[in-house]
This record gives sequence, structure tokens and C-alpha cells, in this order.
Amino acid sequence: VDLSGEVAIVTGGSRNIGLAIAAGLYRAGARVCIVGRSDRNALDRALETLGGDAASCLGELLHVGDEEAVTPLFERVAATFGPVTILVNGAAERPHVPFSEMTLQSWNDVVETILTGAFLTSRELFRRLPDDRNAAIVNIGGLSAHRPGRDRAHVIAAKSGLVGLTRALAAEGQGRIRANAIVPGAIDSDRRPGQSRPFEMDESLGTCDDVAGTVLAFSNPADVYVTGQTVHVSGGRFMP
Ligand SMILES: NC(=O)c1ccc[n+]([C@@H]2O[C@H](COP(=O)([O-])OP(=O)(O)OC[C@H]3O[C@@H](n4cnc5c(N)ncnc54)[C@H](OP(=O)(O)O)[C@@H]3O)[C@@H](O)[C@H]2O)c1
Repeated sequence: VDLSGEVAIVTGGSRNIGLAIAAGLYRAGARVCIVGRSDRNALDRALETLGGDAASCLGELLHVGDEEAVTPLFERVAATFGPVTILVNGAAERPHVPFSEMTLQSWNDVVETILTGAFLTSRELFRRLPDDRNAAIVNIGGLSAHRPGRDRAHVIAAKSGLVGLTRALAAEGQGRIRANAIVPGAIDSDRRPGQSRPFEMDESLGTCDDVAGTVLAFSNPADVYVTGQTVHVSGGRFMP
């Protein structure tokens, strides 16, 4: 996949799966902006991992659910690299909390990050894409939306909404802007203190690079006919 001339934003790109995606896009020739929310050290390490210079890599900390942060992000990226042609919406919060104890604040935080964030970033891409360019949006889904379990109603609802948003974006962008969703299965990734794993460690796990490889394929500007799809990268854990 040759992404030279492409400009990518990867939200949630400062760690784990998002970082592997950003690195894959960067190695393929795209200029890349990584977005995290608050962890400056993780963002700096991610930029070091990419190994580029300021002419090819950017890092930003912001809340993707904040319209007043997302609009200037696209302005800065456009001013530095040019218009965004690849958008990966990977930012997510996935706390576990029993449904009857779920606060409105917790619900809103998760929905704002996963679903509202993808709406705001995608809308900026749609508004700013020059008429003579194609673009790809890749939304990172969650297996829990397809195989629901307990204590994650907000995540399940938001990730299910992301599948619907993906289809809506594919319809809106037909012929010019592709939108697809990639759903990772159980991926071997670092968890923060207190962050639980929704799967057993003895299950066979995928890697962040497994997900990144699929995102790369869906970002290929030469591949313009696949859109509106949800693809599971889960080693057969879920077969729609
Ligand atoms: N890991 C798995 O097994 C698995 C399985 C299925 C689906 N997924 C999906 O894959 C994606 C990546 O998962 P992961 O485990 O690799 O991620 P992760 O380690 O939990 O990292 C989350 C990333 O999102 C950023 N982020 C969180 N809230 C944000 C916000 N409001 N605005 C901007 N950035 C925000 C974080 O930045 P800070 O660090 O600065 O907060 C970080 O870069 C997620 O969408 C997740 O739902 C993962």
C-alpha cells in the first residue's frame, strides 16, 4: 500500500492498537497526526516509535468529543500537512460498571469519546476534503457490540452506534469517501492499572499489528469500492 501524499489522523494513536495503526500508515508513506487525550509521556513515546520529524509526524492531546478542540485540530493538521485523507477513529474508554450503578456522567463520557468523537472528526473530514481527493475513514469497533456481555452497556451502545455511523458515512460519502469499521477481537495489548481484560489470557490473542494490517488495507486510496463494511479481526471469535 503506497500512502505517499496521504495525510492521516489516528485518534487513540498514542498506545497499543492505535499506535500500531499510526506506525503502519507512517511506514506506508502517510504523514500522520496521533491524537491522545491526556498522557503526554505515552504520546511522546509514540512519536519516538514512529521516528519521524515534525514534517511528517504530529502529536496532539485533546478530547475528541469536544467540538472546540476537534475543529482546530483539523485546521492545524491542514496547515502543517494538507487536508486529511485518512481518518482512523480509535479513541475509546471502556470502563466496567454494573448497569444499575452506571452514572449518567460515565455513560456520557464513554458515548462522547467513542461515538460523538467519531461524528465530530468525520464531519471535519467531510467538510474539508478537496473536491479532487478521495478519503478513507476507518472506525475501530468493539467485539462487545457483537457479542455483548455484562457491565459495559455504555461501551456496547456506543460501539454499536459506531457501526451505524460507519454505514451512514459510507452512504453520505459514496464515490469519494469510504467508511469501514474494523472490529478487533481479543488483542494482546498493555492494560493500565485497574483496567481489566474482558477475556482470559489463555485464549489465543491477536496482535496490534494484526489490526493495523487490516486498517492499512482499508486505507488504500487505490481500493475505492469497499465501503460501509464491518470486518472482524478476531481469529474467528465472531463470524457474522
Ligand atoms: N485491546 C483490545 O483487546 C481491543 C479489543 C476490541 C476493540 N478494541 C478497540 O481498539 C481501540 C484501541 O484499544 P486499545 O486497548 O489499544 O486502546 P487503549 O490502550 O485503551 O488506548 C486508548 C487510546 O485512546 C485515547 N483516548 C481515550 N479517550 C480519548 C478521548 N476522549 N480523546 C482522545 N483520545 C482519547 C488514549 O489517550 P490517553 O492515553 O492520552 O488517555 C489512548 O491513546 C479502541 O477503540 C478499543 O475499543 C480493543
